[in-house]
Amino acid sequence: MPTSVVLGTGHCVPERIVTNDDLARLFDTSDAWIRERTGIEQRRWVPDEGGTGGSDLATEAARTALQAAGLGPADVDMIVYATLSPDHFFPGDGCFLQAKLDVPAGVPALDVRNQCSGFLYGLAVTDSFIRSGSYQHVLLVGAEVHSTGLDRSNLGRDVTVLFGDGAAAVVLGANDSGDGRGILATELHADGRHAKVLWTDAPSCVDRGRMTVEQIQARRHFAEMSGRRVFKHAIECMPAALHSVLGKCGLAVADIDLLITHQANLRICEAVQKQLGLRDDQVFNNIMRYGNTTAASIPLALDECVRAGRIRRGSIVAFASFGAGFTWGAAVLRW
Ligand code: ACO
Repeated sequence: MPTSVVLGTGHCVPERIVTNDDLARLFDTSDAWIRERTGIEQRRWVPDEGGTGGSDLATEAARTALQAAGLGPADVDMIVYATLSPDHFFPGDGCFLQAKLDVPAGVPALDVRNQCSGFLYGLAVTDSFIRSGSYQHVLLVGAEVHSTGLDRSNLGRDVTVLFGDGAAAVVLGANDSGDGRGILATELHADGRHAKVLWTDAPSCVDRGRMTVEQIQARRHFAEMSGRRVFKHAIECMPAALHSVLGKCGLAVADIDLLITHQANLRICEAVQKQLGLRDDQVFNNIMRYGNTTAASIPLALDECVRAGRIRRGSIVAFASFGAGFTWGAAVLRW
């Protein structure tokens, strides 16, 4: 049976940098508060005049990833697209990306809606398709435009400081060589009892007209979050998933050359690192520069590591994520 190897990576973020001081001009917050609680120093936002969707950023990220893989759009035989901020209610962003990138008609495009765990859910699905022999070259993308949906008033400041826009892509292909490289194990989880701990109520198909004036006035179209509950579960679930997924492939925490956790909050990443007893050189964080880019955060960090030469052939690379749903998961690869 083939394994799934990463053939190329890429990312794309908007040019516009929004610093903590910029946010402090919009609502009551401060650079010191944001840095201390989240580690974030700046994030990227698409232009306020609109017109840029996640699929636009994804298209650029995908082009770079395909180039790194030495492939072109015509070589892609499946698209898997993870996002919580699709360009439109429907159809899925995978179809918009397919058209913008010129991936041939007929190639399937699957959208994954698992928020911060979207990339890992997409990775697990991709791995299954490749190992079963169904597809040879899968383009897996995580992309978000959060900035258009952030409450830029005092009422939304706890959420707004966290999120940034960005996209990243990974091209995965089948490895039949038997050299032991590729995805070694993945593991996914969800607990829907916490679905409304971090969620956006509107627009909603439950309500006639899908969005009412009252909902907008009550700011129900902005994300709501119990930050402390997210924090608590994240630092429990990610280490547990990592121990479990490492156990599945006969590895231990000490074998990890590089851990990339979902970049939700630097304090969460640090707490996970501490619990696992990993050294600084075994982890990578870039939330300081991008904020939380949700489905894009793990592949964006991965692409930076690849380009900085932090991952070598044979390296053991681990991922862990946690987010709304709650959903969480982990994966281990031999690079
Ligand atoms: N600037 C200044 N003050 C703020 C801000 C802000 N941006 N936001 C909240 N405050 C205030 C609150 O109003 C509160 O004031 P009070 O004491 O007068 O009532 C005070 O700061 C403390 O608020 P808490 O919410 O208790 O602050 P906490 O220490 O929990 O930090 C934070 C909040 C940073 C959101 C933290 O809970 C967190 O990071 N949790 C995890 C959230 C997360 O990672 N979410 C995304 C993951 S899932 C996904 O990616 C989809």
